[in-house]
Amino acid sequence: MTLLWDADPTASDRYSFALGADIVRFDNLATATRALQEYVNDPLLIIGPEVDMQSACDLSDFARVERPEMGVVLMRRRLDVTVLAQALRSGIREVIPADDLTALADAARRSRELSSKVAGHVGDAAVTEGRVVTVFSAKGGVGKTTFSTNLGAYLASKGSKVLLMDLDLAFGDVAISLQLLPQNSMSDLIAMSGHLDAQGLASIVTRHESGLDVAAAPSEPSDADRIPGALVGEALRVARRAYDYVVVDTPPAFTEHVLAAFDVSDLLILIATLDIPAVKNLRLSLDTLDLLGSPKESRVVVLNRSDAKVGLRAEDVVAAIRQDIAITVPSSAAVPASINRGVPIVLDEPRHAVSVALRELADRFIRVQPAAGSPGSKADEPKRSERWSLTRGSKR
Ligand SMILES: Nc1ncnc2c1ncn2[C@@H]1O[C@H](COP(=O)(O)OP(=O)(O)O)[C@@H](O)[C@H]1O
Ligand SMILES: [Mg+2]
Repeated sequence: MTLLWDADPTASDRYSFALGADIVRFDNLATATRALQEYVNDPLLIIGPEVDMQSACDLSDFARVERPEMGVVLMRRRLDVTVLAQALRSGIREVIPADDLTALADAARRSRELSSKVAGHVGDAAVTEGRVVTVFSAKGGVGKTTFSTNLGAYLASKGSKVLLMDLDLAFGDVAISLQLLPQNSMSDLIAMSGHLDAQGLASIVTRHESGLDVAAAPSEPSDADRIPGALVGEALRVARRAYDYVVVDTPPAFTEHVLAAFDVSDLLILIATLDIPAVKNLRLSLDTLDLLGSPKESRVVVLNRSDAKVGLRAEDVVAAIRQDIAITVPSSAAVPASINRGVPIVLDEPRHAVSVALRELADRFIRVQPAAGSPGSKADEPKRSERWSLTRGSKR
């Protein structure tokens, strides 16, 4: 199948001689962009002569990051040095004269050959794509930030390359919980929207002493509105190529940012507590996730402060949410104390019952088990015993 961006409805027929009859046509940048993410087995995109140069380059820039094996062939009515230079900069493979069907057929053949070679390598690289783990609850104060900071710090302390992204963009407190003073934040990604790469992402993170990288929430709550959901998706897709694990902390709501994170998450950690509103919200969240088509097998429910004597028992929660609880984490004053010290409890008091439970959560559900002869972690120099096979679970 060939992807074709051309507003002219007769274009598919005209080009079928050169490209074959199996053509999917789009008539704008948005649908073409979506198509690149949908038709993942089709590595050839033809851009028609009427598409303006800037949009063509934008799409090619996007393809270069999202679909490195994809070939973009551009048709132009006039070929000059400026056009060629611009095309080159955006990674367009060939620029050919409009209506030269022989040139189109040749360019398409060359591009497909190259794509199949590149795909071999990209296939290898895909194995090392990191896992995205989102910690969510529709209620505030249940332990999302506690869990995400501890899980991130624990995974990093094991030698993995880990990014913790604070998607509680208005009131995020990941940075303060880890006593970091970020120079940059998620709002600095705005300028890189559409062409974000690993270097750009690296320029906004703050390193914690555990080795954990943090993409902090903006210091101005109002900046949250300036960050589009699509940018969060873009950042997470770039991040999972650069990191072994990407842990995402969230606000207590289904914001567009949270939905973008769900979309690319391999695992959702949903937090329950022993109070009726939290259980009700969890039930509603699970229903919403079902509606969104999120697979059940990629969710775990964790009960935080499981020993609180409040008249509601863990069994009641299981009955209400109709889903098992994977891990229970006890309540302890050591948790707020560790946050006040700015040191994750898993690192500071590894024998504490809360730390033991958090490690169990990470080891059972997040950390991919070591495999013999597996490709290494993306951490600079991982120790032999700390290398993991990063084969991802089933991706939607
Ligand atoms: N297991 C626990 N025992 C005691 N206090 C906890 C526990 N988990 C979280 N807390 C405390 O509850 C408060 C809210 O936790 P936080 O992680 O900020 O929640 P959220 O991010 O969901 O709003 C914090 O003061 C934290 O220290
Ligand atoms: Mg929080």
